[in-house]
Amino acid sequence: MSTPHFNDKTTGDEVVLQFKDRVRGLTVLITGVTHTGIGGSTAVALARGGAECLILASRSESRAAETIETVKKVNPAVTVVFVKLDLADLASVRTAAQGILDNPSVQSIDVLINNAGVSLADETPRLTKDGLEETWQVCHVGHWLLTSLLMPKLLAAASVKGEARVINLSSTGHNFWNGSFDEPSPFTGIAAYGRAKAANILFSKGLALKYGSRGIKSYSVQPGWVTTQLISTWKADDFARAVEAGKEAGLEYGSEPKTLEQGCSTTLVAALDPAIPAPNGAYLDDCHEKKPNAKVEDVQKVEELWKVTEKALGQKFL
Ligand SMILES: NC(=O)c1ccc[n+]([C@@H]2O[C@H](COP(=O)([O-])OP(=O)(O)OC[C@H]3O[C@@H](n4cnc5c(N)ncnc54)[C@H](OP(=O)(O)O)[C@@H]3O)[C@@H](O)[C@H]2O)c1
Repeated sequence: MSTPHFNDKTTGDEVVLQFKDRVRGLTVLITGVTHTGIGGSTAVALARGGAECLILASRSESRAAETIETVKKVNPAVTVVFVKLDLADLASVRTAAQGILDNPSVQSIDVLINNAGVSLADETPRLTKDGLEETWQVCHVGHWLLTSLLMPKLLAAASVKGEARVINLSSTGHNFWNGSFDEPSPFTGIAAYGRAKAANILFSKGLALKYGSRGIKSYSVQPGWVTTQLISTWKADDFARAVEAGKEAGLEYGSEPKTLEQGCSTTLVAALDPAIPAPNGAYLDDCHEKKPNAKVEDVQKVEELWKVTEKALGQKFL
């Protein structure tokens, strides 16, 4: 292992410093970069480490503004490309991807970090304008489409540098998945989050299996418990339900949340460690490989996910 000293307290800056030779010259796209969230702290750590180009994708420029400002302050030399992206709107995902493909200053993408996500407290499914359940679309289907459309630029990086990486933000919430890709019934926000976060792990496994030979490496990440806006719609009942569901799934919750700077470290290990000891497609937690729930270890589920997602989108991955 190249970084056995990394743990739950490790910060993004420490990770970036460890891999400073690799950060310089990188082009990285991050989705969901608001400054109060993990995507924002990921962007700032990469800028501080000397990344060459950061493509920051957000629903609105104003939600990304503070992150963009900090990024430019810590590293005035970094090229920042803002991309408007609403993952709950597939037309927006296609427009965003086309804009990146057409941008001559983005020749290739070394790392794509599918970070954006929602965790809704609703007890009835909230549908997007595309008719899909919102958590499923924002956390999984939208990122799947974005990744698929950007594959030419990822493969371009892989052909020059030997590899490109796709990092999918998952969660211990994947343990709440019932093993089916159908809409959870009875529906709860927790069950919907579980399905989406399981899909994030399986997406990484599938990318590794299907595109590993072409230089694509993909890892899924549990960032840890970080106090962000992710669960701002939850009420006391929802917390109680999550704790109950966690107990049933055998989860132990830490008593203290991570800071934003600690919350981006596992993502950055997955994105940067050139000698990452975890196999392509692995799930990482606290900066190291961790065994996820047995339900997402089933390789048949990768094929099922591919079929279900391709059917929902009406198009093949590549
Ligand atoms: N925080 C935790 O404890 C924790 C634990 C496990 C996993 N995670 C995962 O970590 C990732 C980051 O979460 P976070 O805690 O940093 O949450 P957050 O602060 O709520 O940030 C989520 C980001 O996703 C963006 N987003 C939401 N809906 C979107 C949409 N329709 N289109 C585009 N972007 C959208 C948000 O954009 P706006 O700024 O426009 O709202 C925001 O920038 C998520 O995938 C989450 O599941 C978090």
